[in-house]
Amino acid sequence: MNEPAAPAAPARRAIRSFVRREGRITAAQSRALEEHWGRYGVEFHGTPLDLDALFGRRAPRTLEIGFGDGETLVALAARHPERDYLGLEVHAPGVGHCLLRAAAAGLTNVRVLRHDAVEVLEHGLPPASLDEVLIYFPDPWPKKRHHKRRLLQPAFAALLATRLAPGGRLRLATDWAPYAEWMRAVLDPSAEFVNEAGAAGYVPRPAERPETKFERRGARLGQAARDLAYRRR
Ligand SMILES: C[S@@+](CC[C@H](N)C(=O)[O-])C[C@H]1O[C@@H](n2cnc3c(N)ncnc32)[C@H](O)[C@@H]1O
Repeated sequence: MNEPAAPAAPARRAIRSFVRREGRITAAQSRALEEHWGRYGVEFHGTPLDLDALFGRRAPRTLEIGFGDGETLVALAARHPERDYLGLEVHAPGVGHCLLRAAAAGLTNVRVLRHDAVEVLEHGLPPASLDEVLIYFPDPWPKKRHHKRRLLQPAFAALLATRLAPGGRLRLATDWAPYAEWMRAVLDPSAEFVNEAGAAGYVPRPAERPETKFERRGARLGQAARDLAYRRR
């Protein structure tokens, strides 16, 4: 667990937090992309998104980054019809899976983008446009030479802070203990965020957070999940 602290100023854009792997999309996921993309999907052209127009209203907004199969995104959106949920994911089968779930639940408060979160945050989301950001079980990139690929880097945290409204909340979870420490090493010293757990560092698992297959897999391997919650100053 003796990992180096997070780097101060990584050269970010040459390095991505994901590897494109398009394989193994099921027929149902592929059909979902064809049938439901028009309803839930948002094309990203590198220009600012009009979130009020996308959702057809102005409501408190949650962004989930790297939603995987959409288990969390869809469950939370179903539970909170008074909020809007924007999801970012690069993996096509996961997006298909999420669309299937959203359509089956008849949701109207979900939109998804299939694009790199860093670019969407940089160019697509206006300042202070989000009330909550969720980053659950981001790829841990355990090897030291891959740490630069971890999504959460100081520059990305600073970008997130600008997109969150003052008082907005950033929630994270990981079952990779060294990444949990890395998250704290990035966020605790940040002038923009306050750790809601104080010196304890980690918050109890929020009852609301649905268990995803990544969390279940980690639990089977004996890796307990840690939850973090920060407030934007
Ligand atoms: C380990 S999975 C966890 C998925 C989900 N949050 C869960 O708990 O089941 C991490 C996900 O983040 C996505 N991802 C990684 N970097 C991303 C980025 N820069 N933009 C959007 N999605 C990203 C990956 O494609 C992957 O599906």
